[in-house]
Amino acid sequence: MKRFANLDFENKKNMSKHLIAPSMLSADFTNLQKEIEMVNCSEADWFHLDIMDGHFVPNITFGMPIVKQMKRHATKPFDVHLMIERPEQYIREFVGAGADYLTVHAEACTHLHRTIQQIKELGIKAGVSLNPHTPVTLIENVLSDVDLVLIMSVNPGFGGQHFIPQTLHKLNQLSELKQFYNASFLTEIDGGVTLDNAKTLVNHGVDVLVAGSTVFNSKSPTETISQLKRV
Ligand code: DX5
Ligand code: ZN
Repeated sequence: MKRFANLDFENKKNMSKHLIAPSMLSADFTNLQKEIEMVNCSEADWFHLDIMDGHFVPNITFGMPIVKQMKRHATKPFDVHLMIERPEQYIREFVGAGADYLTVHAEACTHLHRTIQQIKELGIKAGVSLNPHTPVTLIENVLSDVDLVLIMSVNPGFGGQHFIPQTLHKLNQLSELKQFYNASFLTEIDGGVTLDNAKTLVNHGVDVLVAGSTVFNSKSPTETISQLKRV
């Protein structure tokens, strides 16, 4: 099969049942239990939790103890996005805290294959993420090993940024590599997802839409989640 042939993704019939993962980064942390219950009762599929260390990205969020406390109230899977250096040192702790999907950045892993295997050996799903400038071919040799590929469509570190349009080209390339390797990972997009671009993203092969500010800054987060689910 020819790689990176021009496929007409825009006109592809949307047969997919995509998932919605609200990013709790934009939630009100002074009312965290209420925010968790909103997601529990909504049409959302997962919780997306952003872990930042102030080194890999220029921001710091929260760690394992908060994830563990959130898990006590949540009724849906935890999609944990590690934006940290040396993620291999913390895998066991995040699994213990309740991660169901644990995603590491390819740029942060010298031994990416080993790190993916370590996550899977602990019985949860393994994901790999790419920054906007990183080519999808960097992870070509692990596409058959991972359960999830998270494409960053903003520079990681902050919510509320604008979607980087070149990401659509990367999604096309990733879809073609997925076919080429007959791989079964889910494709997740993170950053700048809105009600306006969600349908285009699904038509470009996205299985999981992460949405932070679009959900939590809206008048009715529950209704916004339903709208994202129905694009
Ligand atoms: C950014 C995080 C995202 C962030 C997305 O580094 O990985 O998950 O919360 O926020 P929005 O949807 O507002 O772009
Ligand atoms: Zn994220």
